[in-house]
Amino acid sequence: MNTDSKPAFSRRRFVASAGLVAGTMITRPLFGADAPSNKLNILLIGVWGRGLAHYDALSEENVVALCDVNEKRFPDALKRFPNATTYVDWRKALDHKGLDAVVICTTDHTHAFIASWALSRNLHVYCEKPLAITVNEARAVRAKWEEKKGKLATQVGMQRHAQANFRRVRELIHDGVIGDLQAAYAWGNRQIRRSGYLPAEGTPPEGFNYDLWLGPAPYRPYNPGYFKGGAGANCLEWNMFWDFGAGQIGDMGSHTMDIVWNVVDAKLPTSVSAKGEAFNSDVTPVECESHFEHPANDWRGPITVSWYQGGVMPRAPKPMIDLTKIGHGAMFKGSKGFLISDFDTRMVLPFGDDADLTYYKPRTKETLIPPVGHFQKEWLAACREPSKKTSCDFGYSADMIEQMLLGLVAYRVGKKIQYDPKTGKSPDTPEADTFMGKQYRDGWTMDG
Ligand SMILES: NC(=O)c1ccc[n+]([C@@H]2O[C@H](COP(=O)([O-])OP(=O)(O)OC[C@H]3O[C@@H](n4cnc5c(N)ncnc54)[C@H](O)[C@@H]3O)[C@@H](O)[C@H]2O)c1
Repeated sequence: MNTDSKPAFSRRRFVASAGLVAGTMITRPLFGADAPSNKLNILLIGVWGRGLAHYDALSEENVVALCDVNEKRFPDALKRFPNATTYVDWRKALDHKGLDAVVICTTDHTHAFIASWALSRNLHVYCEKPLAITVNEARAVRAKWEEKKGKLATQVGMQRHAQANFRRVRELIHDGVIGDLQAAYAWGNRQIRRSGYLPAEGTPPEGFNYDLWLGPAPYRPYNPGYFKGGAGANCLEWNMFWDFGAGQIGDMGSHTMDIVWNVVDAKLPTSVSAKGEAFNSDVTPVECESHFEHPANDWRGPITVSWYQGGVMPRAPKPMIDLTKIGHGAMFKGSKGFLISDFDTRMVLPFGDDADLTYYKPRTKETLIPPVGHFQKEWLAACREPSKKTSCDFGYSADMIEQMLLGLVAYRVGKKIQYDPKTGKSPDTPEADTFMGKQYRDGWTMDG
């Protein structure tokens, strides 16, 4: 393992040298964008797979620590970040001295844990999607984020959000192109079927810390099948199992529901219903649909938001429109028409005799919503100036994933449930409580 590199300038040392108590002032000085002292000291957890997608943005900062349960990933990562100290256990890595920020690219079942520990240590956090795999995890991370809001920069890895189409869709609907918004739908057609956890097979290769990979999840025997995927796609080998992920909700659902979430300005739903294929205690459903009722807000009336996955689809507005041609898409229904979108394209379908578009005035170039720019760099800029809002901070993203995960709760309960966003409980269905959270292995706590 490498020895610790000399950090250029750390926020913590600045805070200490300024005579302030760490944690009371979470800012760093600005000395000009190019000043070496302005670089952030970053820990990257999960250095291969999705982690690779962060190398370019992070190479402009000081990556002082790398963490991966698979030690075989270190030599290549160290070629890019030669001064970093390596760790196999993220709990130890988070206590690396002088850290400013952490990027989390590990398995879904560790995200809420690491994010929560990092916030407790006053670190800025970029967490790959999904932020959580249970309702209780989403609520716990959001509660911690609320304590530090405006002082710490957070972002969930829904980087498609930076595509221009996201802003155009929002503008069109807010400017009334489909009249009054009534409902929104998102769907994803990825179908990866597994019958159950993989049976015991072989032993973990040298340097692979399988017990740390399991982390808070209940013990499951090792099988190389969980690790046979390519870089950035290995999540498709484990994310459908209840212990390790939330299936397509956490996978493409995070990206696709983001098209809707970016428009509707919703918080948490007040009721949820869902149905899907037969329940499997090992594997999350492939085919499933969930429906969430949201109260009115200051610009629209009450709406229903729906999520469809694994082949089930919302009804097309007209037979001439084949929604199944859009693998991951969204549709908005208004009083005067529909807007259908994928990640980078949109189309408007005026509907009804009075849908003449006279009520819609396109924006001028000057009044368009400004571009996000580089999604990871948006977060890096906010780490330097945490009062800057990031597009997918933990407030926005925790609400979105809590809604989606409530769909899995309703699916398991098997009936429509009322939801109290304040308490995180269903007043009419107390049995739903069992599915809001999960059991963790002894010794693992989210509040570390
Ligand atoms: N934003 C996107 O478009 C996008 C794309 C792909 C994956 N992802 C997300 O990225 C995450 C990783 O996916 P992946 O396909 O790269 O998975 P992966 O199984 O390849 O894991 C990535 C790396 O993390 C390491 N790792 C796993 N658990 C760890 C732990 N507890 N501590 C330290 N290191 C650990 C692995 O050894 C590996 O090197 C998932 O949450 C996935 O949802 C996001």
